[in-house]
Amino acid sequence: MEQTLAIIKPDGTAARLVGEVIRRIEDEGLAIAAMRMELLSERKAEGFYYVHRQKPFFRSLIGFMTSGPVVLMVLEGENAISRWRTLMGATDPRKAAPGTIRRDLATDIERNVVHGSDGPDSAVYEIHYFFKGDDICSGT
Ligand code: CMP
Repeated sequence: MEQTLAIIKPDGTAARLVGEVIRRIEDEGLAIAAMRMELLSERKAEGFYYVHRQKPFFRSLIGFMTSGPVVLMVLEGENAISRWRTLMGATDPRKAAPGTIRRDLATDIERNVVHGSDGPDSAVYEIHYFFKGDDICSGT
């Protein structure tokens, strides 16, 4: 069993896409082990995207990620990290495969509806950035 962090970004919540994204997650057979809605502070968003702090898009990304509520989730299942990344599609919706969340629902490379951890180390870091052990209902 593997866990990964999923985020429905402010463009997704504003466009009432929460149900659509969760439908796709559950249809894929991934379990939601934790879930919370939150309006991220600038400081919390900056800490989460710390690895991107030198990128030219960093300030814009932080502005976007704090512009409205996000839905934070821990997804669980066999190969959850790669399965969630496949469901999301490529970062740039124009390059994402047909049928993926980003191809079907995203606006552009920044406003791309969802986030997912990119590997086992980042999954552990990202899950614990937002959730305490007690918040996670594993094995449901
Ligand atoms: P995410 O998978 O959450 O990881 C970093 C985020 O930065 C990414 O999704 C996009 O929202 C954003 N991003 C990545 N590349 C670019 C880019 N070239 N221009 C603007 N935003 C980007």
